[in-house]
Amino acid sequence: MTPLCPAAEVIAGLPVIVRLSATASVILLRLNDHLVAYRNVCPHMGIELDWEAERLLTPSGRYLQCTGHGAWFDPASGHCLGGPCAGESLTALAVLFRDDMVVLDD
Ligand code: FES
Repeated sequence: MTPLCPAAEVIAGLPVIVRLSATASVILLRLNDHLVAYRNVCPHMGIELDWEAERLLTPSGRYLQCTGHGAWFDPASGHCLGGPCAGESLTALAVLFRDDMVVLDD
């Protein structure tokens, strides 16, 4: 189990980026009472989707979006719905709440 952040920091509808190393980070997103996590790697070019959590959403707030070339993703599944990597997906990670923390179930 790798601790990521306090559970209270993951607010519904606002992605949280947790840096694991200089080159790796995780996107956390609370959808109602459901928590999802993805490797912060765009399937198009393998770069991080963004540096700021606030800019990871489309203007409507409905989809995750890569600021590289604008691909947008279903937040619940990580599936790319449009853009240069349409049909591909973000890599989902197993996470859970433990002792008021969000942890990777690794
Ligand atoms: S790198 Fe994400 S859309 Fe191109």
